[in-house]
Amino acid sequence: MRGIVLIGYRGCGKTTLARSLAARLDWPWLDVDRVLEERAGRSIATIFAEEGETAFRDREAAVLTDLLSGPGPLVLATGGGVVEREANRRQLRDSGALVAYLDAPADFLRARLEADPGGRPALTGAGLLAEVAVVLARRDPWYRASAGMVVDARLTVEEKTACLARLVENPAKSRR
Ligand code: S3P
Repeated sequence: MRGIVLIGYRGCGKTTLARSLAARLDWPWLDVDRVLEERAGRSIATIFAEEGETAFRDREAAVLTDLLSGPGPLVLATGGGVVEREANRRQLRDSGALVAYLDAPADFLRARLEADPGGRPALTGAGLLAEVAVVLARRDPWYRASAGMVVDARLTVEEKTACLARLVENPAKSRR
């Protein structure tokens, strides 16, 4: 798929940046979580509660495969756990899109999630905020291995948009 895929932990700003990038590039944008909810006819919190995380991950993998197999151009925001499955990580690497990891320290993410929990289900018994450091430590190497570039999530939306849009507008610079 021609396009940009945004990956990173919950609260790093993928959806806001996807919307901003799409406006700047005049491309459509989609959020894997929203497509999944539309297809399921239920919220993610309900899917976690009624079907469990494994069933959610199956749905997430199916949506990812569908969206990455389109031609694009597209800006795609993903759920923070998309890198949990090896097959998803491989698809991201092989997608042909510019995959950008929005990297942020646990403190920053915790503060953002505290301000806007957004009905996100906890992933461990520790809870949404307390689990950030341990889940991020597990996922961080996967985000890095799946991405073609790393962007500091603490930059402003305008800065991140400009940085990624420039790479798309001047693709020679986006090569790894
Ligand atoms: C998840 C992140 C969520 C959503 C689901 C699971 C995760 O997406 O896919 O609640 O495992 O980190 P956001 O990163 O958009 O919150």
